[in-house]
Amino acid sequence: MSYADDLFSYVRSHHPRSLRGIEEAREVNPAAWHAMAEQFLGWAARIHGDEGWAPRCVDAFARFSTDVILCQARYEDAGHYQNSSYDECNAAVYSQREVMDDYLWGVFLTNFLWSHHMELSLFFRDRFLARLPSTPEMIEIAPGHGGWGVWALSNRPDARLNGFDISPSSMAIANLVAGAAGVSDRATYTLQDALDLGGMAHGSADAVICSFLIEHLEQPERLVEVIAHLLKPGTRAYLTGALTAAQVDHIFEFRRESELVAMCEKYGLRVLETMSVSPRRILPKARFIPRSMGLIVERRDLS
Ligand SMILES: C[S@@+](CC[C@H](N)C(=O)[O-])C[C@H]1O[C@@H](n2cnc3c(N)ncnc32)[C@H](O)[C@@H]1O
Repeated sequence: MSYADDLFSYVRSHHPRSLRGIEEAREVNPAAWHAMAEQFLGWAARIHGDEGWAPRCVDAFARFSTDVILCQARYEDAGHYQNSSYDECNAAVYSQREVMDDYLWGVFLTNFLWSHHMELSLFFRDRFLARLPSTPEMIEIAPGHGGWGVWALSNRPDARLNGFDISPSSMAIANLVAGAAGVSDRATYTLQDALDLGGMAHGSADAVICSFLIEHLEQPERLVEVIAHLLKPGTRAYLTGALTAAQVDHIFEFRRESELVAMCEKYGLRVLETMSVSPRRILPKARFIPRSMGLIVERRDLS
């Protein structure tokens, strides 16, 4: 039995409504999906035990996915996101250990259990990771569960990573995931607000990963400015953001892909490649199509 087999049998018995979505994620690229499932679920099993990973992570994934659908339905009704204050989200979500632990274990699985995030994962691996310079010093902004950066380190044995997140849960979980993946010696996580990273030396990184933070900020431009500051000239960042996709802690409502592109260009980041993806099934008669967008950008002063 593989972890993927165990996952499907657990989902069939405990969360049958999640089954179709997971099958859709597998259909994106069955071979890559199985490899990712074995890797990510293997790390979860090393942390939570063979009996414990599914109740901890798959239940959290089902709760998180249900919350997202409810938030999107409220957003369809109200026409705007539920929350707009960063401080309130920090107090209610990021700083709360139990809430945030559950949230992060749920999000950890979305990387390959949501079809559109599976598409982004492949974009990240094939278009970004595979093309980094040798021995890259990477900075991960807002690693959360750590899955993106740890997957990067697993794919790139020559890379090192420094991660910065505002949440104590992230510190705990990202360190556990790095340990389970055997990459702890190349990963360091520090509790720090990303918007303060402008204090680091200009050009500290050969690569930056920043996945799904920008829509959590009141002034997203400040994050783009930080990313541009951290990159050495000619080096690249992988950035993702959510557009018209509600969650309890999404406060900046991006409506057009071009808004993210223009923001990058404003701070001297040349947009090399983008991918905008959405779930295969959305709410009936939706006026907002929830999208996740990945951008590969290069620090390049554009005249
Ligand atoms: C949706 S999670 C994204 C986790 C992971 N990067 C991913 O894509 O799955 C958002 C993360 O941003 C972190 N975060 C929120 N505000 C932050 C800030 N100002 N500086 C650093 N991290 C922040 C949260 O603690 C959380 O871990």
